[in-house]
Amino acid sequence: MLENAKVISHERMGDPQYQIMRLILHTEIAMEAKPGQFVHVQVSTGLDPLLRRPISIAEINTEKKEITLLYRIRGKGTERLAQVKPSEELSLLGPIGRGFTVPTDGELLLVAGGIGVFPLLALAKAAKEKNLSVRLFWGGENKAFFESAGLESWQEAGIPVELSTMDGSVGVKGTVLDLIQKEHHGTSQLEDSHLQGGHSSFQTSVATCGPNPMMQAVSETFLQYGYSVEASLEERMGCAVGACLGCICTLRDEKSGDLRRAKVCKDGPVFNAREVAWNVEI
Ligand SMILES: Cc1cc2nc3c(=O)[nH]c(=O)nc-3n(C[C@H](O)[C@H](O)[C@H](O)COP(=O)(O)OP(=O)(O)OC[C@H]3O[C@@H](n4cnc5c(N)ncnc54)[C@H](O)[C@@H]3O)c2cc1C
Ligand code: FES
Repeated sequence: MLENAKVISHERMGDPQYQIMRLILHTEIAMEAKPGQFVHVQVSTGLDPLLRRPISIAEINTEKKEITLLYRIRGKGTERLAQVKPSEELSLLGPIGRGFTVPTDGELLLVAGGIGVFPLLALAKAAKEKNLSVRLFWGGENKAFFESAGLESWQEAGIPVELSTMDGSVGVKGTVLDLIQKEHHGTSQLEDSHLQGGHSSFQTSVATCGPNPMMQAVSETFLQYGYSVEASLEERMGCAVGACLGCICTLRDEKSGDLRRAKVCKDGPVFNAREVAWNVEI
């Protein structure tokens, strides 16, 4: 759907050094959107930058027909986007892509690195609506970063959040994987949780978003115990509709082991982590 969405509010979140913005838009896209999908946003009506920019849908409000985008200002496109004011219109293409699976029962563990937390918020809220148990493990820079990247929204939604920082200033010192291992007393409890899943109707699913090395490590850790894991990949995008081949990633067929190319915009951005061939190009 291509639509001019009305800007309801647009504000900087928290500490200005993190350059994180919250943009709420009134759009019919809210009625179709699923957690993990994204919109392709026109950031300029001129030729520079010519290309739209992909931003995940962080919150979906069907009653108000609103979506929330959370984004970090990185370069020319997001700098332009940050100048858009309330009551102006913004051209959106969306909702795009394959989103996360919202489990029907059991527990959902969310694992985020930095601003990878943004697409997980809509998933967490959808899972809570189904009365699932949801927990977030989130690695970031420091307290000011977590506050600027929407920690409060998670707390307001009543979702338990465990944090890790490399300097140990908040939460567990180390990576988000160190945090998970500490929470589960090494990996032995992960194995127990899986066995619990194997012998009862209780299942734990994992969804992750963040830098690729983090998602790879998280996926390998949980997959070895038989959890289902979904990862939201990020690639630079051109068209976002599957036409330009600008966003290719590599998948490995689970049975044959054959490698194939996939489009992050159309086949993803969310993939079954078991299929992702990390760091492989064909
Ligand atoms: C499916 C998808 C969902 C996304 N969701 C969000 C979101 O919810 N919030 C958010 O803040 N960002 C999100 N991004 C990233 C966002 O699209 C980029 O930050 C944005 O396009 C940068 O545009 P720019 O013009 O500001 O920066 P540019 O001038 O284009 O780039 C600035 C710097 O960032 C690097 N860069 C730009 N885009 C990417 C990318 N996709 N991957 C890696 N490096 C990149 C460039 O190489 C350059 O170093 C998402 C990306 C994808 C593919
Ligand atoms: S961005 Fe063009 S094919 Fe994915």
